[in-house]
Amino acid sequence: MQSGKLSIDPAFVVAPVNRRVFGSFVEHMGRCVYGGLYEPGHPTADEDGLRGDVLELVREMGVTAVRYPGGNFVSGYRWEDGVGPVEDRPTRLDPAWKTIETNAFGLNEFMRWARKADIEPVMAVNLGTRGIAEAVELLEYANHPKGTALSDLRVEHGAPEPHAIRTWCLGNEMDGPWQLGHKTAEEYGRLAAETARAMRQVEPDLELVACGSSGRGMATFGAWEDTVLEHTYELVDHVSAHAYYELDGDDRASFLASSVDMDKFIREVVATADAVGARLKSSKKIMISFDEWNVWYNKALTESGLPTDWTEAPRLSEDAYTVLDAVVVGSLLITLLQHSDRVAIACQAQLVNTIAPIRSEPDGPAWRQSIFHPFALTARHARGQVLDLRVDAPTLTTAKHGEVAVLDAVATHDAETGQLAVFVVNRDPAEAVAFATDLRGFGAATLTEAVLLADDDLFAANTMDEPDRVAPRPHTSAAVDGTTLRAELPPASWSMFRLQLS
Ligand code: AHR
Repeated sequence: MQSGKLSIDPAFVVAPVNRRVFGSFVEHMGRCVYGGLYEPGHPTADEDGLRGDVLELVREMGVTAVRYPGGNFVSGYRWEDGVGPVEDRPTRLDPAWKTIETNAFGLNEFMRWARKADIEPVMAVNLGTRGIAEAVELLEYANHPKGTALSDLRVEHGAPEPHAIRTWCLGNEMDGPWQLGHKTAEEYGRLAAETARAMRQVEPDLELVACGSSGRGMATFGAWEDTVLEHTYELVDHVSAHAYYELDGDDRASFLASSVDMDKFIREVVATADAVGARLKSSKKIMISFDEWNVWYNKALTESGLPTDWTEAPRLSEDAYTVLDAVVVGSLLITLLQHSDRVAIACQAQLVNTIAPIRSEPDGPAWRQSIFHPFALTARHARGQVLDLRVDAPTLTTAKHGEVAVLDAVATHDAETGQLAVFVVNRDPAEAVAFATDLRGFGAATLTEAVLLADDDLFAANTMDEPDRVAPRPHTSAAVDGTTLRAELPPASWSMFRLQLS
């Protein structure tokens, strides 16, 4: 059997774990909102029509922040349509997803849900079909205490307290030709700068996110970030990045190594942002908001096309995730944590039904997809500082990413509680790895939990009838022997080890 090891030491630290890396994304797309978060009449729905079973799963998943309301949807959205008495709200076409939007759910419903889910909202403004005035008006409506036309309107709409939304995305994927109101980097950079300036005139302490590229493969990637940040550098805090991965044919090795691409993406955005900072002689560092990432079988949606019959909340991209997908999601989370010094926010896209870790059926149950598990366990146990570890492992050759180490790993150390957590993926689709980590730097350690996500059937998935077919199980081969943690990592597997240090 091949073998691989990690070197970790409490003295070598990347940065504290940013809790907002365990963010998610709720878009008015498919059944994420309608039939997902919100289903009045569902047996578990509360007085606000919010599904209790879904809320419970969101809490269990450990989601910390949620971006809303899109996505491509926001680039054609009029936020005013979604507030006030529901019976007065207009029904409109959503051109992004070719769907009928009833506007029964809007800002105040989302904020009620956010409070119940105990998550921080990350709000996006429409810089596609709209601009500075509407963004500032939305800010006044949402955050100003009272005594102005728009803040008083919010109070009249049943939300007496300001929503205090701190983080705002200045548009969505404005580099993409599919985006309503798509712009050149120059056009968007100017608009984002002026919108940021105006929003800061109302509230100086906002955290603002400028749109980066909607994918590393975009022809404008790099140049886009350079131009946009040239205009916005001192006015924003973060630049966004989006990435979705999918299994191509049966190329499991490349798919399992998807995090290599995400890693390069982060390094390249950091390099570009820092180059702009150097040019501008700024001491400020721009952080990354990786506010859309996941496994998404997008080719299937592209091939089937969007609905042409304009219905409400159609089933869109309700991907049934497999064991293989869960391992990839686990390793994408590892990459996001490895870059904790520059990735401040990350949002798995999306939360319920559409491209989602949680599925729900109308009038029926809600359940955890396979990808729910690595997210929930990482969110729960990655605490304290991210350690700067070294991986010493054999490599394998992949068609898309070249030579990659078979192991991908991250460790977090919470000095206050004396807990060490190690998350490891074996990317080799065919061979197990004998894994070892030297714990000498930590003194004595006891293994408190070892969990494995692996399966003889890499395409097994959870369904409504078999909701727990894929779930983590105890890692029976794991043990601490002297000061070495050892385990056998099956092919294509995700593992978590928790140790108590004395
Ligand atoms: O999450 C689905 C879509 O993917 C979002 O609306 C868009 O921003 C991205 O292209």
